[in-house]
Amino acid sequence: MKGVNVSLSTIRRSAQILLAQPNSKVVPQAVRLTHHLVKQQSPILYQQQQQQQQTRAACNSALCNGKCKKKNARRPLKAAAVSGGNFANHKHTGSLALTDDDAGPEVNRRDEDQVLEVRVTPDGQLARFPYMWLRDHCHSDRYFNHSTQQKIPDLELLQRDLTPEDVHADDKSLFIKWRDGHETEYSFEWLAEHSYPGKFCRRTKRVMWDKKKIHAGPLPAVPFEYHMNSEEGLRESLQNLVKYGFTMVTETPPTAEGTKQASERVSPIQESMYGGLWTVSPSMGNNDTAYTHASLGAHTDNTYLTSPAGIEVFHLLEHDGTGGESLLVDGFNAVDTVRREDPKAYQTLRDTLVPFEYMATAADGKPPYLMKAYSPIFTEHPGTGELLTFRFNAYDRGVMDTVGPSELAQFYKAYQHLSEVISRPESEFWHQMRPGTVVLVDNWRVMHGRGAFTGFRLLSGCYLSRDEWISQARMYDAL
Ligand SMILES: [Fe+2]
Repeated sequence: MKGVNVSLSTIRRSAQILLAQPNSKVVPQAVRLTHHLVKQQSPILYQQQQQQQQTRAACNSALCNGKCKKKNARRPLKAAAVSGGNFANHKHTGSLALTDDDAGPEVNRRDEDQVLEVRVTPDGQLARFPYMWLRDHCHSDRYFNHSTQQKIPDLELLQRDLTPEDVHADDKSLFIKWRDGHETEYSFEWLAEHSYPGKFCRRTKRVMWDKKKIHAGPLPAVPFEYHMNSEEGLRESLQNLVKYGFTMVTETPPTAEGTKQASERVSPIQESMYGGLWTVSPSMGNNDTAYTHASLGAHTDNTYLTSPAGIEVFHLLEHDGTGGESLLVDGFNAVDTVRREDPKAYQTLRDTLVPFEYMATAADGKPPYLMKAYSPIFTEHPGTGELLTFRFNAYDRGVMDTVGPSELAQFYKAYQHLSEVISRPESEFWHQMRPGTVVLVDNWRVMHGRGAFTGFRLLSGCYLSRDEWISQARMYDAL
């Protein structure tokens, strides 16, 4: 678990969640990480957790979660909801609700559609869970390894009669007895979190921004000490990244070591062909416009990689000249603007593969590179349709060999439209970086650039991987 940055109090809190709810009531990634961390850093809690798992295994019941008394504490189901109050052997379409509280969980069998409708939260809408989906996501010991938090494949899923024999509910869980005798428990909390079909539940809502909006409120910024030494501070930094696509860490030691500390608090530094923690100055002579005094238009980095870096970190360490202001542009807001102004252009940019490439000659003991990747300018989340990735780099766009002559004019029209939106003054947020302020930018969303400058300008920075920082955002309830 090298490089993981979670405080002991977070581990304890996670462990307590596990102790209370060992049947997958928290996301699997968090469970897996917590198991490792608890074992390493809090052996007593780990021992308690293992004892509880052994109790569950000894009970030999798919429904038992180590608290067998819970089964006896189930409240009866509303008689009117099911014929004769005995729904166990009925093939029907029925409604189940608790007797003493009509606001309790509501479960409707829809055998004709092979789905259960479940009101997973008291004020929420009915969510539909296909029987096949429910059986596939059975987290009993037969189909889920609770030690590794991984599924155990059911190769006979499609051969089974998946109409439930029996459906129960109490105030916390839904219980299904299947026709082959197997039993499954699903907590309503888990069902709410995984409401089919994959509703994307964000704890932090994105804010699409332009110059006016970003100047209207305080800049997303967190002081270094708060960012480094409190869970709330790190959560605020991660929430800023989810919300705005960038955040600043102010009052950081104005050194490369300060850059490293502020970055590694979010996630381990990603090694790339540029190394780990890097410095950029105009005298370095690499094959890239970034290493000159010239201005750089708004762009995202690594467009020529299959998976571009998730976050790019910038920290100005020295500048003895003029100019060099930094530019940020919200790529998602630019795409959304194109969607509103020309829906066909939006579709073209979403559906056209664009080649990106980067060449570098061998130098300083490093091999030559010819990096190339194909991707649309943006992609949408396959489940929710919300914007997922954004790639825009006029410097690294390759030869357009992906569309035929008849489609080319349409692509260029859409691409030029987007370029024009990006370069509108109202899209641009310009600011002057200062030593001591680290800027972290979501490279899958927000573009960066700079003005031309004079003199010596030394910048330090690094990349953080997408999966690592998103994982951290989940761990800190920021996503
Ligand atoms: Fe860049």
